[in-house]
Amino acid sequence: MPEGIAINETKNDFPTNTGNGGNSRRESLLKQDLAAYMAKAAEMVKAPSESDAFALIRLDREMKYCQECKGLAACQLKGMQPVATASGGRIYLTYRPCKRARSANAERRMKAALKAARLPENLSDKTINGFEKTEGTEVARQAAIEIGQRILNGNLPLKGLMLMGPPGVGKSHLEVALARVALEAGCYTVFVSLPDLIDASRKWFATKTGLDPAEVVIAADVAILDDLGAESTKYEWVAERVFQVLDQRMRNRKLTFVTTNLTDPDEISSHYGGLMGRRIVSRLAELCRWITMTGPDWRLRQVM
Ligand SMILES: Nc1ncnc2c1ncn2[C@@H]1O[C@H](COP(=O)(O)OP(=O)(O)O)[C@@H](O)[C@H]1O
Ligand SMILES: [Mg+2]
Repeated sequence: MPEGIAINETKNDFPTNTGNGGNSRRESLLKQDLAAYMAKAAEMVKAPSESDAFALIRLDREMKYCQECKGLAACQLKGMQPVATASGGRIYLTYRPCKRARSANAERRMKAALKAARLPENLSDKTINGFEKTEGTEVARQAAIEIGQRILNGNLPLKGLMLMGPPGVGKSHLEVALARVALEAGCYTVFVSLPDLIDASRKWFATKTGLDPAEVVIAADVAILDDLGAESTKYEWVAERVFQVLDQRMRNRKLTFVTTNLTDPDEISSHYGGLMGRRIVSRLAELCRWITMTGPDWRLRQVM
């Protein structure tokens, strides 16, 4: 039996679940078709037995369901398509998910990955195409397009983006859009706002139950750290935690995206303070290409 595709190998006895009269149906089929199916079986194995011919009869009968496909919900084979495989001089039917089942599975996986990625609800449908060209954001838009294409081609860039700039210029929009591309490409992707991460870390420290939220971010193939600098640095451990996440991601060469309202290295450094501040800036420089976005706050369009 070849390895790989075999799922649910079936016995090759001809099915008798044809209701009343199953036996007579079996006999008439045998008369009509057996010779033809024996000939077909002989194309696959040297010395076919009736059992091999029955496998091919079953294959044709079940493939009819597929030819007249009424959708997955109504599928008698539950989305599994038969394939005839010759091995050790015998013909077996093996089953594998059909095209529709595969695409439904992919959709289900995508939904689960999307949920795990925790994209912010209000931005979760944002795309790069949906980002309008504006003065002050074009470099960022082009960089996002280029990185998005590389992610889709499986040619991950060495650096992510750190989008800097005032509120409402579209920093998170572009990075959520990139998170969606990464999810589509099958990358384990996590989006987290820094204030939320620090809050979750504080709670985790208190109980140490469940997953350490910082470790979840460290482990992701692609991480988006939104609003760096918006977290309170009242406690010393905050800067250490941010450093740890960035440092681990840098060491493991993991693609990292950042957004921040902070405008330059000095501001970032002094937000975290002292040596730790400078070490954070240095990690950000290795992890990301820095791009400043400018322009009016899009959120104000709705109220003005
Ligand atoms: N160039 C743009 N094209 C389309 N929508 C935009 C653009 N810039 C911002 N927006 C929209 O404005 C809102 C705020 O953008 P967001 O990315 O959250 O801003 P930031 O993260 O820079 O504060 C979002 O709904 C976003 O989709
Ligand atoms: Mg934002």
